[in-house]
Amino acid sequence: MAESWATLGVDLHLEPTGPGLRRGLTDALREAVRSGRLAPGTRLPSSRTLAADLGIARNTVADAYADLVAEGWLTARQGSGTRVAMGASPTPSGQRGRTAVPPDGPAPRPRTPARPAHDLRPGFPDLSSFPRTQWAKATRRALDAAPYDAFGYGDPRGRPELRTALAGYLSRARGVRADPERIAVCAGFAHGLTMLGTALRARGVRTVAVESYGLDAHWSLLNRSGLRTVPLPFDHLGTDPAPLTDEGAVLLTPAHQFPMGVPLHRDRRAAVVDWARRTGGLVLEDDYDGEFRYDRQPVGALQGLDPDRVVYLGTASKSLAPGLRLAWMVLPPGLAEEVARAKGGIDTCGVLDQLTLAEFIVSGAYDRHVRSARLRYRRRRDALVAAVAERAPGVRATGIAAGLHAVLRLPPGTERQVLRAAVWQDLAVDGIGRYRHADAVVEPMEALVVGYGTPPEHAWTGALDALCAALPE
Ligand SMILES: Cc1ncc(COP(=O)(O)O)c(C=O)c1O
Repeated sequence: MAESWATLGVDLHLEPTGPGLRRGLTDALREAVRSGRLAPGTRLPSSRTLAADLGIARNTVADAYADLVAEGWLTARQGSGTRVAMGASPTPSGQRGRTAVPPDGPAPRPRTPARPAHDLRPGFPDLSSFPRTQWAKATRRALDAAPYDAFGYGDPRGRPELRTALAGYLSRARGVRADPERIAVCAGFAHGLTMLGTALRARGVRTVAVESYGLDAHWSLLNRSGLRTVPLPFDHLGTDPAPLTDEGAVLLTPAHQFPMGVPLHRDRRAAVVDWARRTGGLVLEDDYDGEFRYDRQPVGALQGLDPDRVVYLGTASKSLAPGLRLAWMVLPPGLAEEVARAKGGIDTCGVLDQLTLAEFIVSGAYDRHVRSARLRYRRRRDALVAAVAERAPGVRATGIAAGLHAVLRLPPGTERQVLRAAVWQDLAVDGIGRYRHADAVVEPMEALVVGYGTPPEHAWTGALDALCAALPE
């Protein structure tokens, strides 16, 4: 008879269903009985134990048990605890979709998959704050001003109006040495990386060094271009470029390491540029959230140190919205032509969005939007840090005051439990593990990556409460 609640807890945590904790737990337990994972006669843990295991209130568990006793799936007797009813039989295999019937009581309601009530996954700005009115006005002005030939097949590097606007903005705000002739517009950072991967491969590059922590989607894009990724070591000074040898390129997030949240130490900034000069390698600088620094002026782009060896990549995905699919690269000499070839010789980004973004930047609307977003995200970060310090003193918020996410270091041995508790709070949040490169040699760590930028304003406080409820006290 299955008595191990540890195993059962994991199974259940994967499939809570329905809105609300009580309903979710009731459905998950019923499903466990119905599918046979909980055999008739199995003794369930006490409501106190299960509540602690799942990080939810004891009453919620007691209520769910009571519901299932009333439905006939469980029995509760003084002295022998709560057990799966002897007559409760699983749905026969091969009859998926048929509903098992409890020994006595009504048939269970079908499960409805639901979006999490609280979303703190990193990688998103607050989509509800997209500046619709200003964007629509900029579109109108851009459309009125566009020459008729703008609607033809364009320069593969993108519209000149946007490249010129970006050159001015990037040199002013990020210290990038930008010439419109060497800027290429792309459909998101991911698209830019794909084109760079193709161009690097065509140059004979086989290996790209990456950070120990990052996005596996980006490593996969490089793999698909025929490039191997090898992770560099990581410590409190950021990614360590010392082991770099003859890799053709290195992909870094120097201003705000993703997801760990530290800036690249100045000695390492110098060292990586030095490596590129010595070996002819390229540095791919992913400046995904460079607009958002809260405690001081952001560190300027690495590209400013050597525009001949560093490719600067920026995106509208954090500052405006990922759905725009608009990003930009500032390329060293020669590479602009190779990227244009990789792009297929035509502009693949919609002209109207490019002209609108150009107008948005030139009119000052972009700066205004970023400044007001910065204020909101800064307040959220401050609230997160304060709430964690007060309600979960064993947990530490790490990284600089920047960006749209923070890493919460957890007490050893608690990450799984916290992630499980988060599910029972109907909260989507990531553990650090999914951001670790498979070949990374780094000290194991337990942490959450919390995307405090993600919820719409009205949902932020609820999401923060749900997070705190899932954290160990
Ligand atoms: C580390 C990092 N780089 C770049 C991006 C932007 O990607 P894209 O421009 O393809 O939306 C993101 C977005 O989540 C990111 O987290």
